Parts: sequence; C-alpha cells; structure tokens
Amino acid sequence: MTFEELKAACGDCHKCELGATRTNIVFGTGNENADVLFVGEAPGQKEDETGIPFVGAAGKLLDQYLAAVGIDRGQVYIANILKCRPPHNRDPLPAEEDACIDYLREQVRLIHPKIIICLGRISAMRLIKPDFRITAEHGKFFKKGEYTITAVYHPAALLRDPRKKEDMYTDMKAVKAFIDGME
Ligand code: URA
Repeated sequence: MTFEELKAACGDCHKCELGATRTNIVFGTGNENADVLFVGEAPGQKEDETGIPFVGAAGKLLDQYLAAVGIDRGQVYIANILKCRPPHNRDPLPAEEDACIDYLREQVRLIHPKIIICLGRISAMRLIKPDFRITAEHGKFFKKGEYTITAVYHPAALLRDPRKKEDMYTDMKAVKAFIDGME
C-alpha cells in the first residue's frame, strides 16, 4: 500500500465511534521519508478542526522544544495513536486504539524511521510496553525489533506541570544527539 492509498483508506474510516464525531481525520504530517517519527496520543480540538497534528497549545510548545534543540519540524513526521479526536479530549479507549493502530503500523512500515519518539504515556504504553511509567522511564532508549524508540513527556503535561520542563529539555537534547549520530 502507498502513503496515498493508506491516507484515503483512513479518510473513510468508521471502524470505531469516533468516525461519527470527528470533523477531520488527523492522519499525520511531515516528511514521509523521515528518519524521525514522533507519535502523540490523539487529536485535540484544533487538530480536529484543521486535520493537522500538534497545532494547538501543546503543539506550539512542542514546536518550541524542536526549535530549542535544533530539530526541523519539516524534516520529521508527526502522527498520533488515534486519527480522530475523542470527545472532550478524554483518553483513548483500548477499543479505539485497537481499531486505529493498524494505520500507524502501516505508517511506520512506509516511513521506516530510525527513531520513534512517543509523546506521552498513552503512546509509550502502546508502542513500548503496556506498563510503561512515564515519570520513571522518560528519556530511556529501547530497541524494538529494528526500531529505536524512546518516550518524552507529552507537551500538554508540561503545560499542566511546568516542573517537568527541565526533564523534557534534557530528553529532547538526547533525541537530537541520537539523530546527529545517525548515518
Ligand atoms: N495532543 C496529541 O497527542 N496529539 C495532537 O495531535 C495534539 C495534541
């Protein structure tokens, strides 16, 4: 399947109930040949309105970290576990993740990144391990098959608790160092 075919299939998706309430699918944006893939949780209101991931308040903060460590947003790919917004930004339900995860799996296969960075606990629990503890394990690097994968705090968590910002900066610098070390 090509990226365009996958996007089209996702655009028609009604595999879970979020298909009935979304304004737009938020498939993902960025460089489809990126070495670096960021994976968030699910679209929020601004993302649902625009169809673009991480464009609301959390996205603006993510942009600041990318700029601070010298990662060009246009050179990476950004996607989410869920492609549709859960009502009132509640956590994704396991059944919604199960229904949606094959789209991300296929995106990973097509992009074939060298590193995947989970943005927050929900993404890390799905992509790294179900018992992932973001407070204890953020910034650690894992190997899953051929992929290197790590997790950093979700930018929305930093908005709620600015004391986490220092850890986020440290983790993002480590991600940048990894990127600089890639061939
Ligand atoms: N939070 C997410 O996890 N993803 C988005 O796209 C926006 C906010």
